[in-house]
Amino acid sequence: MRTNDAQMLVLCALTDGPLHGYAINAAIEQVSGHRLGPGSLYGALARLEAKQLVKPLEGKGRQRPVCLTPAGRELLEQEAHSMARLSGRVFESAVPDEISYLDRLAATDTARSYKSVMLHALDARPGQTVLDLGCGPGTDLSTLAKAVSPSGRVIGIDSSQKMVEQARRRTEGLSAVEVQLGDIHTLPLEDGSIDRARTERVLQHAADPARALAEARRVLRPGGRLVMGEPDWDSLTIDYPDIEVSRAYTRHVTDKVVRNGVIGRQLARLAPDAGFAVLAVVPVTSVFRDVQAADQVLGLQRNTERAVSAGYLSALASQRWLDDLATGPFFAAVTLYVVVAEATS
Ligand SMILES: C[S@@+](CC[C@H](N)C(=O)[O-])C[C@H]1O[C@@H](n2cnc3c(N)ncnc32)[C@H](O)[C@@H]1O
Repeated sequence: MRTNDAQMLVLCALTDGPLHGYAINAAIEQVSGHRLGPGSLYGALARLEAKQLVKPLEGKGRQRPVCLTPAGRELLEQEAHSMARLSGRVFESAVPDEISYLDRLAATDTARSYKSVMLHALDARPGQTVLDLGCGPGTDLSTLAKAVSPSGRVIGIDSSQKMVEQARRRTEGLSAVEVQLGDIHTLPLEDGSIDRARTERVLQHAADPARALAEARRVLRPGGRLVMGEPDWDSLTIDYPDIEVSRAYTRHVTDKVVRNGVIGRQLARLAPDAGFAVLAVVPVTSVFRDVQAADQVLGLQRNTERAVSAGYLSALASQRWLDDLATGPFFAAVTLYVVVAEATS
């Protein structure tokens, strides 16, 4: 179904029952953001009637309500099925396992690029103690161990038992690495015992980011460094002819999918309150031009379905959105901020 297919728009508008011309156009505007001109609306209606896909009910002139015929409804259903088959080939419908998701993400060019910016900013030296807050399955622990060797230590902390077990398995042979089950809001560490700390896509999930920052400050020595790589989901832009649909999708992600959806922009304000001087803020923008690559990170179909359930998108608009994203040229971008902070004395 294409956005400029007036006949298909009219059929869709009639899905829930009979409407007259003005109401048909209002329904079309609601899902597409645009009204059809009178010529194309009544032209489409006349052609649909000639094909016996719609039929007029009682009424006079343009106030006559029109409804779908059984053939019209069947055509619409066929279209919906073919769209679902198409979307099914492009989008991932099942929620991926958390660890596979993180591994997949870590392998993308984007993640490699911000991980390298973060590593450089961390400036970990041999002999230092580095803390990876929310270390996940241990993705960065071996790189950090290399940076502090010989004689340095790396401590990974995560609140998920599953992540901790996986991180331990992955760093089994590395004597410098220790992985602990713990909460970044109440760290099981001495005051001033850490030289370097990092968070990567963790504060976005924290119940109280200000508290987590204060805790990071407590365990860092004065002059110690905290490097945070956290996204700003409000910066998610997906090219789509109807900008309001794309805005609604992003608004839903920021409001409902991620606990602290705009943490990226807030860190330079929160860090000084927790006793840090902010040395640098480096934006890293991921650009996706392949819909499947974007879907692997953004979960486009399942988050669209959630947006519909939460009332951010209509079912019809979302079906057209997914169809267009699956078939058209694709562009999406989102920015993660790397914030480099130093513990003040
Ligand atoms: C998106 S993952 C990122 C993992 C890792 N930093 C990486 O880049 O692959 C977020 C991680 O933070 C952990 N996490 C979330 N809230 C936490 C908390 N309050 N304390 C400790 N870990 C937490 C989660 O269990 C998860 O492993």
